Amino acid sequence: MKLSLALCVSAVCGASAFSPADMKPGPDGLVRLPLAKDPLTMARLKSQSRNGVSVSQQGTIVIDDYENAQYYGPISVGTPPQTLNVIYDTGSANLWVPNIHHLLSPHKTYNHDKSSTYKPNGTIFDIEYGSGPVSGFFSEDTFNMGGYDVKDYTFAEVNNTKGLGPAYSIGKFDGICGMGWSQITQGGEPSPFQALANTKQLPKNVFAFYLGTASSPVAPEANSELVIGGSDPNHYTGEFTYEPLTKDGYWQIALGGLEVGGASMTTVTKAIVDSGTSLLAGPPDDVKKIAEAVGAKKIPFLPEYTIDCNASAPDIDVKIGANTYTLTIKDYVIEDAGECIFAMTGIDVPAPAGPLWILGDVFMRKYYVEFDLDNNRLGFAPSK
Ligand SMILES: *[C@@H]1O[C@H](CO)[C@@H](O)[C@H](O)[C@H]1NC(C)=O
Ligand SMILES: *[C@@H]1O[C@H](CO)[C@@H](O)[C@H](O)[C@H]1NC(C)=O
Ligand SMILES: *[C@@H]1O[C@H](CO)[C@@H](O)[C@H](O)[C@H]1NC(C)=O
Repeated sequence: MKLSLALCVSAVCGASAFSPADMKPGPDGLVRLPLAKDPLTMARLKSQSRNGVSVSQQGTIVIDDYENAQYYGPISVGTPPQTLNVIYDTGSANLWVPNIHHLLSPHKTYNHDKSSTYKPNGTIFDIEYGSGPVSGFFSEDTFNMGGYDVKDYTFAEVNNTKGLGPAYSIGKFDGICGMGWSQITQGGEPSPFQALANTKQLPKNVFAFYLGTASSPVAPEANSELVIGGSDPNHYTGEFTYEPLTKDGYWQIALGGLEVGGASMTTVTKAIVDSGTSLLAGPPDDVKKIAEAVGAKKIPFLPEYTIDCNASAPDIDVKIGANTYTLTIKDYVIEDAGECIFAMTGIDVPAPAGPLWILGDVFMRKYYVEFDLDNNRLGFAPSK
């Protein structure tokens, strides 16, 4: 599930903003939105290209956070490996990479003619986003995630990225690696992580994200990471509290409630943890109520809100199982050139998948989340 972080606040915004009116649920009932990105420079692009899988430690993928808007990391496809940047997205379950190189396009592409392990498939791959399709065809090849090879994997070569909107052309990710369950994979193959699990290479079929706040070229020590095969004790405190998944597909758990100052803000009892969504997202009426409670103001024509950076706004309490996960104003605002965005947005996810809450990167920065495929559960601990 992609969510645009509208970095363009009020007047600065203009025509480049995505239109919420374009939002439509996809075939699986979920809304997918493009991530917004700032323009990419060549210098920036070059600073990314060092992110080969080959330079990562086995099991650890370094992910770049670009001004809190998106997290993406390297993956390679083919033999010899062709490295691209993907968003590791727990809200979807396909791997796709672009195969058409446009002049001046910042994106890296996959060329199957240059891979000795490529095998054709040709079945059409097609996802409808609010703003259009992302489509192409399936192919078979080796992919490598964090140093682990998965051979003969059926993934998508994408030759049309229109559905991601204009943001894609200046975006820093090339493709998407869905980290959800095979139940939500298009095309009936195991999801990438399930396929990796099937190779029995991992000590544990677990992955976890550390989502930092610094952008890596500026503060390399604050790099974010996706850990494959376990979770990184350097990045959480105490013990995990585990919650059983209530449904495989998305990483979905039971939500006990959402409160501001002890007052209940939602009756929705489902939540998913989604690394591919920047903000917290929920039913628009609930979000409106919460925005009022914390003093946030709607941005005209956008589903997002602004908030006074220095407001003494109340905490937002997310109840999961027996625990309360508190987000203070420090956690739920995103500062952008002196203005603050309230990091919560309204999304209507229709039944049967919805309504639900999406605990996106904003939540995952404060709480380290372990995604445990072996035990159908999520582990939560304060991030450090
Ligand atoms: C293409 O991949 C799909 C999904 O795995 C599979 O069902 C189909 O048989 C494959 N087609 C060819 C021609 O290999
Ligand atoms: C993408 O590939 C499909 C399948 O080969 C083809 O039908 C379609 O015309 C291609 N689209 C573009 C934009 O090249
Ligand atoms: C908010 O507080 C910061 C220091 O925490 C200060 O630098 C800034 O000027 C304040 N902004 C406003 C609008 O009061």
